[in-house]
Amino acid sequence: MTEAAASQADASESELIAYVVCGLNDIPSRRARGFQLVILDANSEEKPLPIIVVRWGKQVFGYLNICPHDRVNLDWERNQFLDSNGLRLMCGKHGSTFEIGTGACIDGPCLGSGLTPVALRVIDDDICILGVTLAEDAETEEETPSGG
Ligand code: FES
Repeated sequence: MTEAAASQADASESELIAYVVCGLNDIPSRRARGFQLVILDANSEEKPLPIIVVRWGKQVFGYLNICPHDRVNLDWERNQFLDSNGLRLMCGKHGSTFEIGTGACIDGPCLGSGLTPVALRVIDDDICILGVTLAEDAETEEETPSGG
């Protein structure tokens, strides 16, 4: 196999690699949680990747935690991603709301745009991210339970 063929094979294989973000049961149904991942870009340089994971029963939805209006995190209070009805994602800065299933903005200053989707899949009761290369798995779990 030539080097080019090998690297092409590597590229297509890397697209299939799934990295565990958290367990499915780490997020209660109808709740969302943020994660600060670190990925390797095309130049193998580390880049932060802030994501939102929404769990809805057995379904999960992922988006970049970046509001299309002002490029800030949606959760101005940590992990507060949902509106008061718990039915839409909401940006804490100016109150834009987004459909959970599509990320489309349906009200607020960024009406007509939407959140950037992140490919997630549930594999063996874990929520996994696809299509990126994580720099370190250890970076995915930055939260420490503080008791209750
Ligand atoms: S920054 Fe999100 S609505 Fe303005």
